[in-house]
Amino acid sequence: MRIAATQKLPGPAWNELPEVEVLAEWPPREPLPEVEALVAVVARVGPDELDLLPGLRLVANYGVGYDTVDVSACRARGIAVTNTPGVLDGAVADLTLALILACRRHLVESDRFVREGGWRRGWAQPELLGRDLAGSTLGLVGLGRIGSEVARRAEAFGMRVTHHRRSDGLTLDELLRSSDVVSLHVPLTPETRGLLSRERLALLQDGATLVNTARGAIVDEDALVEELVSGRISAGLDVFADEPRVPERLLELSNVVLTPHIASATVETRAAMTRVLVDNVLALLRGEPLPTEVEA
Ligand code: 8YV
Repeated sequence: MRIAATQKLPGPAWNELPEVEVLAEWPPREPLPEVEALVAVVARVGPDELDLLPGLRLVANYGVGYDTVDVSACRARGIAVTNTPGVLDGAVADLTLALILACRRHLVESDRFVREGGWRRGWAQPELLGRDLAGSTLGLVGLGRIGSEVARRAEAFGMRVTHHRRSDGLTLDELLRSSDVVSLHVPLTPETRGLLSRERLALLQDGATLVNTARGAIVDEDALVEELVSGRISAGLDVFADEPRVPERLLELSNVVLTPHIASATVETRAAMTRVLVDNVLALLRGEPLPTEVEA
């Protein structure tokens, strides 16, 4: 079986795969009829790409979120799709807390203040006065594996944790109105695209913080940029609607902390993600059930 990958993955499990062709570009310029398994790393896989891989049997997505893969188009061609759930919850939750702390305690601004010599010109400025996490309210949009790990950490910091999800919790509007910090932990689906619309963002309290380690397109990004430019709220953003493009106007703002989609990016977690992905490819090779196949 031929395996192609849009990128080589970190961690020892990678070496358990038989020969892998790491593609120079995605989508490939020429059809690759022999490829049966595709290792996809943040790669769009839709009907056009599938046309180039007529022998494909598996799209193994490197990540728990598989919004870049057209699962229905794969299913229609008998192609399985797998993801890497369960191994990155802690790492994503850690970065979420890091962004909450960075925003609420002006961490990046403070670092810049020191580097630019501000401290030598006078004691720390009133604009560097932060807000306590203890006693503040964290509203979680989504309470799956990652959201629950965020809740555990936030409770240890003394935050009051509320949530919104389909089955229970506050309504989304109630949560947005009542939270000091709102953090997003839902997958990007047709239902969640644009969930935090302009109208909903306007419900956030003055001085609230929005943290997004999920997917950029869950938020109306233009409306979010306007709220941030106005200075009414702050945000910690690890994800964007059209990565790697980051809205130009955000680059100048001190009330937003920007990271380049690194929530799962630790040595341990990325190796664990590779392990899960490789186990799926090996299962296909052996004709065994795929450990983490996604539902259409
Ligand atoms: C990325 C993620 O997939 O798991 C997810 O859904 O967003 C990340 O883990 C990863 O960055 C791919 O390189």
